[in-house]
Amino acid sequence: MTYTASLRVWRGDGDGGELTRYDVEAHDGEVVLDLLHRLQATQTPDLAVRWNCKAGKCGSCSAEINGRPRLLCMTRMSVFSPGEVLTITPLRTFPVIRDLVTDVSFNYAKAREIPSFTPPDGLAPGEYRMTQADVGRSQEFRRCIECFLCQDTCHVVRDHEENKPAFAGPRFLMRVAELEMHPLDVADRVAAVQDEHGLGRCNITRCCTDVCPEGIKITDNALIPMKERVADRRYDPLVWLGRTISRR
Ligand code: SF4
Ligand code: F3S
Ligand code: FES
Repeated sequence: MTYTASLRVWRGDGDGGELTRYDVEAHDGEVVLDLLHRLQATQTPDLAVRWNCKAGKCGSCSAEINGRPRLLCMTRMSVFSPGEVLTITPLRTFPVIRDLVTDVSFNYAKAREIPSFTPPDGLAPGEYRMTQADVGRSQEFRRCIECFLCQDTCHVVRDHEENKPAFAGPRFLMRVAELEMHPLDVADRVAAVQDEHGLGRCNITRCCTDVCPEGIKITDNALIPMKERVADRRYDPLVWLGRTISRR
């Protein structure tokens, strides 16, 4: 079936912009990105929208639809009510470059702040041996496609620009958890995740988990276990006593 869909698309740049209404032809089975491509082809050749794989795997086409962070290529038109006007806006947490394209370099800066995988001394690449049981926990986190929808939705930075220097965001707190749970990684990241990457600012709202297109249980499987490790280290009376005695 062919029908006419109504979109309100944010058009503008870093200096400001506005929502512009368009009526676009749509066909059964299409996703929102299909309609934006048809809009580009028929009415707005200068509309800026980032995409690459059109298969939910590159993480490029992140935007907000009716205020909810989503992948444009994985959001079927059929999830909306017939006749509903879709409002499509850029990710709110990052600076706009133009139209639906934002500057996500905040995330690359945060990625660089996390020390990389650190194998034990004397173990060369090719000599790593791990059992599946040991890698199971952190393997879930490797599904991340770096769409940054979780980073966009987390209120710690979405509503508070001033928190950005002190908060890595759920994607990169999860990266710390992945390395911390890695059976061969020998670096100690527990103090840094709290002090440098801002884990304490996460108050477990679970919004990051709700929007993850890969279905990764960011909060329950990465952030809460890291909070437990911080608590064990800092507040366990036996650990505290041991550290106090060893410092003497
Ligand atoms: Fe995207 Fe999920 Fe990775 Fe966050 S954890 S960047 S929401 S895939
Ligand atoms: Fe933010 Fe996720 Fe914590 S949305 S507050 S990082 S549970
Ligand atoms: Fe690659 Fe949407 S275009 S995830």
